[in-house]
Amino acid sequence: MSTARPELHVLRQGHGDPVVLLHGFPLDHRMWSDVAAVLPGDAPILAPDLPGLGTGPVPGAEPSVDVAADAVADLLDATGARRAVVVGLSMGGYVALALAERRPDLVAGLGLVDTKSTADTREARENRWRIADEVAQAQTVDAVLGMPQNLLGTSSRQTRPELVARITAWIGDQSPDGIAWSQRAMAGRPDRTHVLVGFGGPVCVVVGAEDTVTPRTDAEHMVGASRAARLVQVEGAGHLSAVENPAPVAAVLAQLAAQALA
Ligand code: MLT
Repeated sequence: MSTARPELHVLRQGHGDPVVLLHGFPLDHRMWSDVAAVLPGDAPILAPDLPGLGTGPVPGAEPSVDVAADAVADLLDATGARRAVVVGLSMGGYVALALAERRPDLVAGLGLVDTKSTADTREARENRWRIADEVAQAQTVDAVLGMPQNLLGTSSRQTRPELVARITAWIGDQSPDGIAWSQRAMAGRPDRTHVLVGFGGPVCVVVGAEDTVTPRTDAEHMVGASRAARLVQVEGAGHLSAVENPAPVAAVLAQLAAQALA
């Protein structure tokens, strides 16, 4: 166990305030590569590995999405950034909302991709604890290797075996303790809909048309709570819209960045 700061991956050097891309579970910064490659503009693109995943060491702290948000804030402070556009996919969205609550000074705009602002149901929480225990005890990631079946949309699953293999390989690279820590962190997160009610910057909510993990109803709930959020549906994509169909996601995030950092 370590409390060392997670690694910050710079996907594009650039000018001005950065765009920060927070990955989903059980993945790492690599899931943002295709979006970063086509994101218009010249803002720096920063993609940290969240604690316990990718090259992020498993924190010694009690599992909490707040710990992950504070780690991102520390990383941003270390770069000297005064503010950033913060984008999170699924678990990354939970962290983005925690960051907007804990360090509103840092968050100029919010991109919430295939995520939700509500807490887990009791059943979902118990399922996470069960998986966390199983993975930690077995010290393998076998229990989550089948997740691409849920994460990817039907179109991707049926026509893109190479994408299924890529996501499976990324999951296989994760550490069992990191997966267990992340599951427990997500299980304990509170409802953060109120953050959207109070947030003053621009918000963009993105959802894959085939997302069954955090479907459009979750996206609509966030848009309804926000002052002026934009809702964008990405066709031909499931829960990993940023990987399955990166071009429209990049286009909408560029518009968000232009608005937030103007
Ligand atoms: C993710 O993609 O990050 C996960 O589906 C989040 C979750 O399990 O709630």
